[in-house]
Amino acid sequence: MDLTLKIWRQKDANAKGKLVDYKVTDISEHMSFLEMMDVLNEQLVNTGEEPVSFDHDCREGICGMCSMYINGEAHGPDKGNTTCQLHMRSFKDGDTIHIEPFRAAAFPVIRDLVVDRSAFDRIQQAGGYISVNTSGNTQDANSIPIGKAAADDAMDAATCIGCGACVATCKNSSAMLFVGAKVSQYALLPQGQVEAADRVMDMVAQMDAEGFGNCTNTGACEVECPKGISLENIARMNREYLKASSKG
Ligand code: SF4
Ligand code: FES
Repeated sequence: MDLTLKIWRQKDANAKGKLVDYKVTDISEHMSFLEMMDVLNEQLVNTGEEPVSFDHDCREGICGMCSMYINGEAHGPDKGNTTCQLHMRSFKDGDTIHIEPFRAAAFPVIRDLVVDRSAFDRIQQAGGYISVNTSGNTQDANSIPIGKAAADDAMDAATCIGCGACVATCKNSSAMLFVGAKVSQYALLPQGQVEAADRVMDMVAQMDAEGFGNCTNTGACEVECPKGISLENIARMNREYLKASSKG
Protein backbone atom coordinates (compact mmCIF):
# COMPACT_ATOMS: atom_id res chain seq x y z
CA MET A 1 0.00 0.00 0.00
CA ASP A 2 1.08 3.55 -0.69
CA LEU A 3 -0.31 6.05 1.80
CA THR A 4 -0.39 9.77 2.54
CA LEU A 5 -0.06 10.58 6.24
CA LYS A 6 -1.13 13.93 7.66
CA ILE A 7 0.62 14.01 11.03
CA TRP A 8 0.45 16.58 13.83
CA ARG A 9 3.94 17.99 14.41
CA GLN A 10 4.61 20.15 17.45
CA LYS A 11 8.10 20.84 18.74
CA ASP A 12 7.18 21.23 22.42
CA ALA A 13 4.30 22.10 24.73
CA ASN A 14 4.49 25.83 23.92
CA ALA A 15 5.05 25.63 20.17
CA LYS A 16 2.28 26.03 17.63
CA GLY A 17 1.61 22.67 15.98
CA LYS A 18 0.47 21.86 12.44
CA LEU A 19 -0.39 18.91 10.22
CA VAL A 20 2.49 17.88 7.94
CA ASP A 21 2.13 15.57 4.91
CA TYR A 22 4.31 12.47 4.50
CA LYS A 23 4.27 9.62 1.97
CA VAL A 24 4.98 6.00 2.84
CA THR A 25 5.19 3.28 0.22
CA ASP A 26 5.10 -0.54 0.12
CA ILE A 27 3.28 -0.84 3.44
CA SER A 28 2.19 -4.42 4.10
CA GLU A 29 -1.37 -5.03 5.27
CA HIS A 30 0.10 -7.32 7.95
CA MET A 31 2.00 -4.48 9.63
CA SER A 32 0.64 -2.95 12.79
CA PHE A 33 -0.07 0.78 12.73
CA LEU A 34 2.98 1.42 14.93
CA GLU A 35 5.19 -0.63 12.60
CA MET A 36 4.00 1.61 9.77
CA MET A 37 4.99 4.61 11.92
CA ASP A 38 8.40 2.95 12.46
CA VAL A 39 8.84 2.73 8.66
CA LEU A 40 8.06 6.44 8.37
CA ASN A 41 10.49 7.32 11.17
CA GLU A 42 13.27 5.26 9.60
CA GLN A 43 12.66 7.14 6.36
CA LEU A 44 12.80 10.50 8.21
CA VAL A 45 16.00 9.59 10.07
CA ASN A 46 17.63 8.46 6.81
CA THR A 47 16.85 11.81 5.19
CA GLY A 48 18.11 13.80 8.20
CA GLU A 49 14.64 14.86 9.41
CA GLU A 50 13.27 14.70 12.97
CA PRO A 51 11.34 11.47 13.53
CA VAL A 52 7.73 11.71 14.74
CA SER A 53 7.50 11.30 18.53
CA PHE A 54 4.80 8.89 19.68
CA ASP A 55 4.20 6.92 22.87
CA HIS A 56 4.35 3.13 22.97
CA ASP A 57 5.60 0.40 25.25
CA CYS A 58 4.02 -3.07 25.29
CA ARG A 59 2.67 -3.04 21.71
CA GLU A 60 0.11 -5.66 22.76
CA GLY A 61 -2.82 -3.69 24.18
CA ILE A 62 -1.77 -3.75 27.83
CA CYS A 63 0.09 -0.57 28.80
CA GLY A 64 -2.28 2.05 27.35
CA MET A 65 0.57 4.23 26.06
CA CYS A 66 -0.16 4.37 22.32
CA SER A 67 -2.52 7.33 22.45
CA MET A 68 -3.22 8.48 18.89
CA TYR A 69 -6.23 9.99 17.22
CA ILE A 70 -6.48 8.33 13.81
CA ASN A 71 -8.94 9.63 11.21
CA GLY A 72 -10.96 11.29 13.97
CA GLU A 73 -11.15 8.29 16.32
CA ALA A 74 -9.12 7.39 19.39
CA HIS A 75 -7.02 4.32 18.45
CA GLY A 76 -8.37 4.41 14.88
CA PRO A 77 -11.28 2.82 13.04
CA ASP A 78 -11.45 -0.67 14.61
CA LYS A 79 -13.43 -1.37 17.76
CA GLY A 80 -12.05 -2.90 20.97
CA ASN A 81 -8.39 -2.35 20.21
CA THR A 82 -5.52 0.02 20.86
CA THR A 83 -3.37 1.70 18.20
CA CYS A 84 -0.68 -0.97 18.62
CA GLN A 85 -3.29 -3.66 17.88
CA LEU A 86 -4.60 -1.85 14.79
CA HIS A 87 -3.36 -3.40 11.54
CA MET A 88 -2.80 -1.78 8.17
CA ARG A 89 -5.35 -4.16 6.62
CA SER A 90 -7.93 -1.72 8.03
CA PHE A 91 -6.78 0.81 5.39
CA LYS A 92 -6.69 0.82 1.59
CA ASP A 93 -3.99 1.57 -0.95
CA GLY A 94 -4.02 5.31 -1.71
CA ASP A 95 -5.67 6.28 1.59
CA THR A 96 -4.91 9.56 3.36
CA ILE A 97 -4.67 9.03 7.14
CA HIS A 98 -4.92 11.87 9.66
CA ILE A 99 -2.87 11.23 12.82
CA GLU A 100 -3.17 13.56 15.81
CA PRO A 101 -2.48 13.46 19.55
CA PHE A 102 -5.27 12.92 22.11
CA ARG A 103 -6.74 16.37 22.71
CA ALA A 104 -7.82 17.53 26.19
CA ALA A 105 -6.72 20.45 28.37
CA ALA A 106 -5.78 17.96 31.12
CA PHE A 107 -3.57 16.03 28.61
CA PRO A 108 -1.20 18.75 27.29
CA VAL A 109 0.86 17.88 24.21
CA ILE A 110 4.53 17.33 25.08
CA ARG A 111 5.74 16.79 21.52
CA ASP A 112 4.09 15.64 18.25
CA LEU A 113 1.76 12.78 19.25
CA VAL A 114 2.96 12.46 22.87
CA VAL A 115 0.67 13.87 25.55
CA ASP A 116 1.17 14.19 29.30
CA ARG A 117 -1.30 11.82 30.98
CA SER A 118 0.19 12.14 34.48
CA ALA A 119 -3.20 13.56 35.62
CA PHE A 120 -4.37 9.91 35.57
CA ASP A 121 -1.45 8.92 37.83
CA ARG A 122 -2.39 11.64 40.34
CA ILE A 123 -6.02 10.45 40.36
CA GLN A 124 -4.79 6.89 41.03
CA GLN A 125 -2.50 8.13 43.82
CA ALA A 126 -5.48 9.88 45.43
CA GLY A 127 -7.30 6.59 46.11
CA GLY A 128 -6.58 3.75 43.68
CA TYR A 129 -5.23 1.35 46.30
CA ILE A 130 -6.25 -0.80 49.27
CA SER A 131 -4.53 -1.21 52.64
CA VAL A 132 -3.38 -4.76 53.29
CA ASN A 133 -1.76 -6.17 56.42
CA THR A 134 1.64 -7.36 55.22
CA SER A 135 2.98 -8.15 58.69
CA GLY A 136 3.10 -11.90 58.02
CA ASN A 137 -0.52 -12.40 59.10
CA THR A 138 -1.95 -11.62 55.68
CA GLN A 139 -5.25 -13.36 55.12
CA ASP A 140 -5.32 -15.78 52.21
CA ALA A 141 -7.40 -14.21 49.43
CA ASN A 142 -9.36 -17.46 48.98
CA SER A 143 -10.65 -17.26 52.56
CA ILE A 144 -12.84 -14.27 51.61
CA PRO A 145 -15.78 -15.54 49.54
CA ILE A 146 -16.87 -13.19 46.73
CA GLY A 147 -19.97 -13.73 44.59
CA LYS A 148 -19.32 -14.62 40.95
CA ALA A 149 -21.22 -11.59 39.56
CA ALA A 150 -19.29 -9.13 41.78
CA ALA A 151 -15.96 -10.82 40.97
CA ASP A 152 -16.71 -10.66 37.23
CA ASP A 153 -17.76 -6.99 37.35
CA ALA A 154 -14.68 -6.06 39.43
CA MET A 155 -12.45 -7.91 36.96
CA ASP A 156 -14.11 -6.16 34.00
CA ALA A 157 -13.54 -2.76 35.66
CA ALA A 158 -9.92 -3.69 36.39
CA THR A 159 -9.22 -4.23 32.67
CA CYS A 160 -9.05 -0.42 32.20
CA ILE A 161 -5.52 0.28 30.94
CA GLY A 162 -5.59 4.04 31.61
CA CYS A 163 -5.12 4.88 27.93
CA GLY A 164 -7.23 8.05 28.03
CA ALA A 165 -9.27 7.29 24.89
CA CYS A 166 -12.43 8.01 26.91
CA VAL A 167 -11.17 11.53 27.69
CA ALA A 168 -10.00 12.19 24.13
CA THR A 169 -13.35 11.04 22.72
CA CYS A 170 -15.61 12.88 25.18
CA LYS A 171 -16.86 16.27 23.99
CA ASN A 172 -16.38 17.50 27.60
CA SER A 173 -12.98 15.77 28.07
CA SER A 174 -14.50 13.91 30.99
CA ALA A 175 -12.45 11.28 32.81
CA MET A 176 -15.48 9.68 34.46
CA LEU A 177 -15.24 6.34 32.64
CA PHE A 178 -11.63 5.95 33.81
CA VAL A 179 -12.35 7.06 37.39
CA GLY A 180 -15.58 5.03 37.43
CA ALA A 181 -13.61 1.90 36.49
CA LYS A 182 -10.93 2.54 39.13
CA VAL A 183 -13.54 3.18 41.86
CA SER A 184 -15.63 0.16 40.79
CA GLN A 185 -12.84 -2.39 40.83
CA TYR A 186 -12.55 -1.88 44.60
CA ALA A 187 -16.16 -0.92 45.45
CA LEU A 188 -17.33 -4.37 44.34
CA LEU A 189 -14.90 -6.29 46.58
CA PRO A 190 -14.83 -6.70 50.38
CA GLN A 191 -11.13 -5.72 50.37
CA GLY A 192 -12.08 -2.31 48.97
CA GLN A 193 -14.58 -1.39 51.66
CA VAL A 194 -12.20 0.01 54.30
CA GLU A 195 -11.26 3.11 52.29
CA ALA A 196 -14.36 3.13 50.05
CA ALA A 197 -15.78 6.51 51.15
CA ASP A 198 -12.43 8.32 51.18
CA ARG A 199 -11.44 6.72 47.88
CA VAL A 200 -14.38 7.98 45.84
CA MET A 201 -14.33 11.46 47.43
CA ASP A 202 -10.56 11.87 46.93
CA MET A 203 -10.42 10.47 43.39
CA VAL A 204 -13.33 12.64 42.23
CA ALA A 205 -11.80 15.73 43.90
CA GLN A 206 -8.49 15.04 42.11
CA MET A 207 -10.29 14.47 38.81
CA ASP A 208 -11.94 17.89 39.15
CA ALA A 209 -8.67 19.55 40.23
CA GLU A 210 -6.96 18.22 37.07
CA GLY A 211 -9.47 20.08 34.88
CA PHE A 212 -11.39 17.18 33.34
CA GLY A 213 -14.96 18.02 32.27
CA ASN A 214 -18.19 16.55 33.53
CA CYS A 215 -20.16 13.63 32.12
CA THR A 216 -23.29 14.47 30.13
CA ASN A 217 -24.27 10.84 29.41
CA THR A 218 -23.40 10.86 25.70
CA GLY A 219 -21.70 7.46 25.91
CA ALA A 220 -18.96 8.11 23.30
CA CYS A 221 -16.35 7.01 25.87
CA GLU A 222 -17.85 3.52 26.13
CA VAL A 223 -17.94 3.16 22.33
CA GLU A 224 -14.27 4.10 21.88
CA CYS A 225 -12.86 2.38 24.99
CA PRO A 226 -10.50 -0.37 23.77
CA LYS A 227 -11.37 -2.51 26.81
CA GLY A 228 -15.15 -2.18 26.61
CA ILE A 229 -15.44 -0.48 30.02
CA SER A 230 -19.18 -0.02 30.58
CA LEU A 231 -21.04 3.17 31.51
CA GLU A 232 -22.35 1.10 34.46
CA ASN A 233 -19.07 2.01 36.16
CA ILE A 234 -19.91 5.73 36.03
CA ALA A 235 -23.34 5.00 37.56
CA ARG A 236 -21.66 2.93 40.30
CA MET A 237 -19.15 5.74 41.01
CA ASN A 238 -22.02 8.23 41.31
CA ARG A 239 -23.82 5.92 43.77
CA GLU A 240 -20.61 5.48 45.78
CA TYR A 241 -20.10 9.26 45.80
CA LEU A 242 -23.65 9.88 47.03
CA LYS A 243 -23.24 7.23 49.75
CA ALA A 244 -19.90 8.73 50.86
CA SER A 245 -21.20 12.34 50.86
CA SER A 246 -24.25 11.42 52.94
CA LYS A 247 -21.89 10.02 55.60
CA GLY A 248 -20.54 13.58 55.95
S1 SF4 B 1 -11.93 3.54 30.58
FE1 SF4 B 1 -11.30 2.61 28.62
S2 SF4 B 1 -10.78 4.37 27.33
FE2 SF4 B 1 -10.78 5.11 29.46
S3 SF4 B 1 -8.69 4.91 30.20
FE3 SF4 B 1 -9.76 3.00 30.76
S4 SF4 B 1 -9.34 1.60 29.05
FE4 SF4 B 1 -8.85 3.66 28.30
S1 FES C 1 1.75 0.16 23.22
FE1 FES C 1 0.88 -0.71 25.07
S2 FES C 1 -1.27 -0.62 24.69
FE2 FES C 1 -0.39 0.06 22.83
